[in-house]
Amino acid sequence: MIVLGIESSCDETAAAVYTTEGGLRSNVVASQTIHTRFGGVVPELASRAHQQTIWGTVAQALDEAGLKPDEVDVVAVTQGPGLMGALLVGLCFAKGFVLANGNRLVGVNHMDAHMYANFIDHEPVYPFLCLTVSGGHTQLTYVPEPFEHRLLGKTRDDASGEAFDKIGKILSLPYPAGPVMDKRAQNGNPRFHAFPQGLLGEGFDFSFSGLKTSVLYYLQNKGDEAAQAAFLASHLDDVCASVSHAITEVLVKKLEAAMDETGCRTLMLAGGVSANSMLRAKAAKLAERRRAKMLIPKMAYCTDNAAMIAVTGHMLAQRGAFSDMRLKPFARLKA
Ligand code: KG4
Ligand code: ZN
Repeated sequence: MIVLGIESSCDETAAAVYTTEGGLRSNVVASQTIHTRFGGVVPELASRAHQQTIWGTVAQALDEAGLKPDEVDVVAVTQGPGLMGALLVGLCFAKGFVLANGNRLVGVNHMDAHMYANFIDHEPVYPFLCLTVSGGHTQLTYVPEPFEHRLLGKTRDDASGEAFDKIGKILSLPYPAGPVMDKRAQNGNPRFHAFPQGLLGEGFDFSFSGLKTSVLYYLQNKGDEAAQAAFLASHLDDVCASVSHAITEVLVKKLEAAMDETGCRTLMLAGGVSANSMLRAKAAKLAERRRAKMLIPKMAYCTDNAAMIAVTGHMLAQRGAFSDMRLKPFARLKA
């Protein structure tokens, strides 16, 4: 089976080809840079940029896989969650493609795809516990068998990636701040300042908005704007390391608590924040200490991509879960 995956839920236009015989054959991502100057994704600009790049992105993915459009069996497309206008571009394109070339259509849940990104390079394994950490979501899911997702807990306010991005903005870092803070943190002291670890020891829900406020007050306490700038000039790495520590401690401790609750020994990370080096290191340590199996996607499969949509679409198609032309986008589609 040859599956073309298409992703357009936020600010990445992506296309990939996954096949039963050869696995991932191509993986193309066109990242939108227009949002940097606004400090966050502007939905209308995202839709327009998808519109401009989607054809070229899909054409490149097919070309790299050495395929013509009518050789594709299944077109898997992100149905949600995501920005409505952005989703519509991908979905309408996929429907047009399928009408023109006679392929089957499969709608894919973006959050499921982040989890199943772990199976791009790895044989599927069940049951598993997945910590999904992205710009829009932070949740812990227990998956006893394919597509049976039991949500243990989720964030009550900001997602962990959102926390990185918003705190980065307070620290005058460019959007998205997550990767920048990660780099900075590698040269800093994670114990420089003890920032709050929201809802630690209190079930499986998360909360990161208190941390954001605490960083704001911490900085304001350094004095006027000039004093704050001088402080950051010498301690930005330490602040980034301390913030990263607060976020990743909570994530990994809740993952460990979920292990105890479910007895599950296979752990997974998913979503953009699983590219974070401190989180990856702590998760690897947890797995070693508890003799658990830990799967973490390759960096390229952590942030938004279409390889994860194609691999999930392949799983759905093998189960016969095809969609028809009535497939609609859902901005708030549940995992
Ligand atoms: O999964 P993703 O690409 O898009 C969503 O579906 O949200 O995740 C993007 C998020 C952003 O908030 C970004 O700052 C964060 O992932 N991120 C990171 C790192 N790389 C991406 N956060 C911390 N450390 C990183 N290395
Ligand atoms: Zn995502």
